[in-house]
Amino acid sequence: MKLGFLASHGGSNMQAILERCRSGSIAAEPRILISNNANAAAIEKARRFGLETRVFNGKTHPEFETLDQAIADALQTAEVDLVVLAGYMKQIGSRVLTAYRNRILNIHPSLLPKFGGKGMYGMRVHEAVIAAGETQSGATVHLIDAEYDEGPILQQRTVPVLPSDTSESLHERVLEMEHNLYSDTLARIANGEIRLPPQ
Ligand code: GRF
Repeated sequence: MKLGFLASHGGSNMQAILERCRSGSIAAEPRILISNNANAAAIEKARRFGLETRVFNGKTHPEFETLDQAIADALQTAEVDLVVLAGYMKQIGSRVLTAYRNRILNIHPSLLPKFGGKGMYGMRVHEAVIAAGETQSGATVHLIDAEYDEGPILQQRTVPVLPSDTSESLHERVLEMEHNLYSDTLARIANGEIRLPPQ
């Protein structure tokens, strides 16, 4: 199983997965990181693991269709068979979606379908969870289709929301758990415990 990552910022989920691929606890071969953001910390992290890194964005490809095609081409040239979205803040185009139908994973920092959808990203998710008075939150690994936070759920895990929580403290608790959840999901896809729908 060959992995391609798309990340826009820190890439801590990607790093956790790369470490587990290196240690052998995920039976997968990371191949490439594609980012829209030339300054993403994820790029340096990926280089340290010897990954090919590419930057594709509105500057390199002003038209969305050619950007979409460039991403699909880079993934296919790298022989990627599973695409791992790891904090990727841009829309996935129809060419990538078609080339990788049922083979694009995302992690979202809430218990979907709660606190998902348009505008629900980053700290906004945790602010909304706290404002709603939830006593538990969590994260969800799911396949993506044309809509961001939709597509079949593969795994979810919960964390408590404490009365003293701020969005920052909740974010930290969820993110730490995400690293294990995302890695575990990939390990179980690689070993056949989780079966993805046909492509
Ligand atoms: C995570 O909270 C993830 O749920 C969301 O984006 C964030 C990525 O964090 N999709 P990192 O770049 O992996 O540190």
